[in-house]
Amino acid sequence: MRIIHTIAEVRDFVREGRSNGKRIGLVPTMGYFHEGHLTLMREARKETDLVVVSLFVNPTQFGPNEDFKSYPRDLDRDAAMAENVGVDMIFNPSVEEMYPQGYSTYVEVEGITGGLCGASRPGHFRGVTTVVTKLFNIVQPDRAYFGMKDYQQLKVIERMVRDLNMPLEIVSVPTVREPDGLAMSSRNTYLSPQERQAALVLRKALDYAQELVGSGLRDGGDLCARVQEFIGREPLASIDYVAVVDPDSLQPVDRIGDRVLVALAVRIGKTRLIDNAVISA
Ligand code: PAJ
Repeated sequence: MRIIHTIAEVRDFVREGRSNGKRIGLVPTMGYFHEGHLTLMREARKETDLVVVSLFVNPTQFGPNEDFKSYPRDLDRDAAMAENVGVDMIFNPSVEEMYPQGYSTYVEVEGITGGLCGASRPGHFRGVTTVVTKLFNIVQPDRAYFGMKDYQQLKVIERMVRDLNMPLEIVSVPTVREPDGLAMSSRNTYLSPQERQAALVLRKALDYAQELVGSGLRDGGDLCARVQEFIGREPLASIDYVAVVDPDSLQPVDRIGDRVLVALAVRIGKTRLIDNAVISA
């Protein structure tokens, strides 16, 4: 497995593979790998010939008071894990390599970026779509892999690819969870043992929503209120948002039809965690 730090070397590496007829798979990440990341890499390994993982903690998607500086980083550990699942190359650029002096171009998706995480993290998706566009242009993959854990991010990227005619396929992968149901996240490492236990409230709230819809609840506002009330009973949790929305448009749903997305962002202590489920009525 190669570890490459410059855009020029990535282009050389990929050009050679492509000229040998290889299909290129890209897994964009911010590192500190867990089984969720590894599952994306394994999917890419199955479906493409040359698997590139980008590992870049992207400063433009963090707000001024967010955790850019403290975000966990460990290249040696990540490289060993990626090599073990058969990744061919890690692209690990510096901030200067991606955003050199005078950088001034951004990609912005309107509409579906307005609610959920877009509302509570202004500028976040602009940073995500900008860096992902750059990665697509640098690597020029045939397929790129994204997790449903970040459901809104996945939808925003699908929209961007469609709207800007980007010539690749987006592959989505279901959320990978710890045995007790907590969605895997690099940010779970911030949790104290007590907070780790409290964090289960996200998954439990989604199960509760499923149960309510299963027993006939159809009013989106009621569902939202009941889920908020449920999370409110966990003393270490404070709600950022609970959204009951259409799984495609991400617009709030009044009357629940066939499928509804319940998406949560909850702070456990200082750590902001997200989770979601598409619930079938
Ligand atoms: P990061 O949080 O490192 O996630 C990288 C990819 O792994 C994303 O597609 C994310 O949805 C997926 N992922 C994370 N946890 C997962 C889980 N428990 N199950 C399945 N997939 C999971 O998302 C980002 O980085 C960045 O925003 C990025 C797209 C790399 C742009 O900077």
